[in-house]
Amino acid sequence: MKPAITINPVALHHASGYRDCLDTVAREKRYLAQIEALPLARIEGFVADSVAQDAVQFMALDGDQVVGWADIFPAWAHAVAHTGRLGMGLLPAYRSQGTGRRLLQACINKATAKGITRIVLEVRADNHRAIGLYTALGFEHEALMRHAMRFDGQYFDAVQMARLADG
Ligand SMILES: CC(C)(COP(=O)(O)OP(=O)(O)OC[C@H]1O[C@@H](n2cnc3c(N)ncnc32)[C@H](O)[C@@H]1OP(=O)(O)O)[C@@H](O)C(=O)NCCC(=O)NCCS
Repeated sequence: MKPAITINPVALHHASGYRDCLDTVAREKRYLAQIEALPLARIEGFVADSVAQDAVQFMALDGDQVVGWADIFPAWAHAVAHTGRLGMGLLPAYRSQGTGRRLLQACINKATAKGITRIVLEVRADNHRAIGLYTALGFEHEALMRHAMRFDGQYFDAVQMARLADG
């Protein structure tokens, strides 16, 4: 039987697999603002910081393979330090099986425990699956961002959404 996908706090040994996963989703040039992952050394540093800070970052694993990630990083400045920004993605073969929901719920739980009371994100307006997931977990539409993304010269609108812990 195929092993179940597990949701795990980020660990140092995830760095390379996380980069591969992020790179695959970025290269689809559809969902993320970046179109390729940063070099591995940068990702390793980023993951080391996450681990050291017990950051809100989770990996979905199929065995040892990183097949998805989700993270919520807080803003640093005092008056907005209760606000965290969500990013997430799954490899194409792992979508629409409930894994995104599990990743996001793990992030929301940990972010809330850490005092993050406002979670924000931007999503391409035609990304109906992502918007469906965010709406199902309590995010609300805040603004339409016209021509917010551009891929190969073509503009796409994005939606800003937010979820308040005590709203
Ligand atoms: C967006 C993404 C993370 C969602 O994760 P997922 O595992 O595919 O989604 P899930 O299977 O957990 O779906 C959870 C909920 O989303 C909604 N949803 C799923 N597919 C949907 C679709 N095609 N249309 C509308 N809503 C949908 C449903 O509410 C669903 O809840 P349900 O299973 O109770 O019906 C994933 O599809 C992905 O990585 N997409 C490409 C990268 C991306 O878009 N990243 C986000 C950029 S902002």
